[in-house]
Amino acid sequence: MPSVFIKTYGCQMNVRDSEQVQRQLAERGYTLAAREADADVILLNTCSVRDMAEQKALGRAAHLSALKKRNPNLVLGVMGCMAQRIGDEVLERLPDVDLVVGTQKFHQVAGYVDQLRRSKDGTDPGEALRILDTEAEAGSQNTIREHVLAPRQVSAFVSIMQGCNMHCTYCIVPSTRGRERGRPIAEITAEVRRLAEQGVKEVTLLGQIVNLYGRHEFPKDERGRSPFVQLLEAVAGVDGIERVRFTSPHPIGFRDDLVDAFTELPELCEHVHLPLQSGSNRILKAMRRAYTVERFHELADKLRAARPEMAITTDIIVGYPGETETEFEETRAAVRRAGFDNAFVFRYSPRSGTPAAQMEDQLSEDEKMARNQELLREIDEINRPRAEGLVGRETEILVEGESKTNPARFQGRTRTNKLVLIDANERFRGELLPVRVTETTGFTHYAEPALVGVA
Ligand code: 5AD
Ligand code: SF4
Repeated sequence: MPSVFIKTYGCQMNVRDSEQVQRQLAERGYTLAAREADADVILLNTCSVRDMAEQKALGRAAHLSALKKRNPNLVLGVMGCMAQRIGDEVLERLPDVDLVVGTQKFHQVAGYVDQLRRSKDGTDPGEALRILDTEAEAGSQNTIREHVLAPRQVSAFVSIMQGCNMHCTYCIVPSTRGRERGRPIAEITAEVRRLAEQGVKEVTLLGQIVNLYGRHEFPKDERGRSPFVQLLEAVAGVDGIERVRFTSPHPIGFRDDLVDAFTELPELCEHVHLPLQSGSNRILKAMRRAYTVERFHELADKLRAARPEMAITTDIIVGYPGETETEFEETRAAVRRAGFDNAFVFRYSPRSGTPAAQMEDQLSEDEKMARNQELLREIDEINRPRAEGLVGRETEILVEGESKTNPARFQGRTRTNKLVLIDANERFRGELLPVRVTETTGFTHYAEPALVGVA
């Protein structure tokens, strides 16, 4: 049986898209290869959000070309955001790449792979030797719906929408993922129901800006609640679903109905990943992020009022064109004021074709690096007392399975999305388990089962 190796870069959306491709290949008889060197088909699912992500994928694809010398029938494909953005260039620069598939065509990948294999092994010599498909396709948001679940997998991603209509000046995503378009609530709920029947207890709803889900397609309900809140309610109501998460929302359009959902839906976990990007109002405006830092704090405060345990994490870009030392200090102050549980800090990366890339006052890599380090230190400092405060306390985790770093341990997450490790024990796999935290390194916590008699 032919085998496939899929390497995924970038966000959770990409992880989910890769899973869909894997499932469609599995239905055609492909198995998963453990290593690239053993695979008959290698697919890279790429990200364009920063230049580094693209360079990594391009480097990998070039490196993998060498495998073709041993196996001329190998199919090498590039999918996703970078394929969408610079597909032609990828084909031109990398003669060994056979397949380039954009973000609206994941559902075609398995068919294309079969076609390429037939062409290579001579069964079908008339077929095209290289395929590029980066067209837009109406309804493509509805094609990401099947899952490949590992045995006793309890947590799954569900893609609820595609695309983004915002115009953040630094961001390439609107051009790689297209216009905003949502899937019908009934289809998403049916998918979640199927997952629950297979034992899934936690779902994370995915979209570029989830709180704007369905605003063009579906009406508010009789209580004036947005389509997204209606969707949350429907998903939380599915039998067997104990935890619901979503990522990522935008501070714009994060209205009271969504804040209220946290008091009304017990399944909704106490964690929101809410990208701030900058703590300077001037920079926010330059980025075309239509909120102020004061409004952001107001929203964070409301969320904490709705659920005192609420964990808030964020994304920050340092070194946006023209960012002064004072403006960076404003970001640092905002991070402290918001008391983020964690933050992803990104050095601004110019993306060609976006307005910010044309600006003249670009910062040097050294300046960006220094600000990045400083902010990470700040976040560590903010988080430490909170992490230490967890030691000795009881909390509930959903045990996902082997830890990524140490198979002798199982990992799970608290409702607030903190990573917790326990000694591996099959009885706990897939369970909601009360634990007592014994130790912390800051962002990773160690714990033992808290129930008397089960340890
Ligand atoms: N440079 C650096 N970071 C970026 N992000 C998006 N575009 C860029 C860019 N050009 C960050 C934002 C976003 C996260 C997914 O990536 O913080 O929230
Ligand atoms: Fe990267 Fe954005 Fe595409 Fe996700 S949607 S893969 S973060 S460019």
